[in-house]
Amino acid sequence: MVNMDINNYRQADHPIEDFFLKRWSPRSFSDQNVEETTLFSVLEAARWAPSGSNKQPWRFILARTEEDREKYYSFINEGNLAWCKKAPVLVLIISDSEASGSHAFDAGTSWGYLALQAMHKGLVTHAMGGFDKEKAREVLNIPPQFVLHAIIAVGYQDEKEKLAESYQEREKPSPRRPLKETVFEGGYKEELE
Ligand SMILES: Cc1cc2nc3c(=O)[nH]c(=O)nc-3n(C[C@H](O)[C@H](O)[C@H](O)COP(=O)(O)O)c2cc1C
Repeated sequence: MVNMDINNYRQADHPIEDFFLKRWSPRSFSDQNVEETTLFSVLEAARWAPSGSNKQPWRFILARTEEDREKYYSFINEGNLAWCKKAPVLVLIISDSEASGSHAFDAGTSWGYLALQAMHKGLVTHAMGGFDKEKAREVLNIPPQFVLHAIIAVGYQDEKEKLAESYQEREKPSPRRPLKETVFEGGYKEELE
């Protein structure tokens, strides 16, 4: 794991567990492989996410062999390919639109669980929405009722200097807008000037 003091980048407005701040989305992946047991621990966490009527509408399609990763490279955008090719595991998250009205919301929860468990295992994750969804559906043979959400790059972090120069500047944990601009009491309010 690359050493980094997260508090130099992120401060919570209210006290929270450290791991929420420590999860972020680097682009510099090392070529170290992810052990089967570690990978399945991460997917297991995602399995325990809550969902509407416990329908568990999420599905995870893995690419962790050279052959399978190559298939994913055929539909991932250039801007993401530039860094994600080093990630040993790619996980496409899809959800069954016929399962419930909350399928997308539920799939998002499972991604959150996956990302946090990965962090606990010393891994990093980076979600990508930047890929050709129709092509992915075709290449991976995904039935029409499933919605494709994101491809998650999973692996071990490497030094930012290993990234192409144009990505190095962005290789740091991002901030968030203040909670007071996100939480409303008793009803929605337009932001005041
Ligand atoms: C659904 C989704 C799609 C994303 N798509 C991309 C993407 O295509 N390329 C990319 O570099 N980052 C992508 N990201 C990463 C976000 O930009 C990142 O999570 C966000 O800026 C917050 O930063 P953090 O994850 O480091 O806290 C995506 C994240 C999510 C959740």
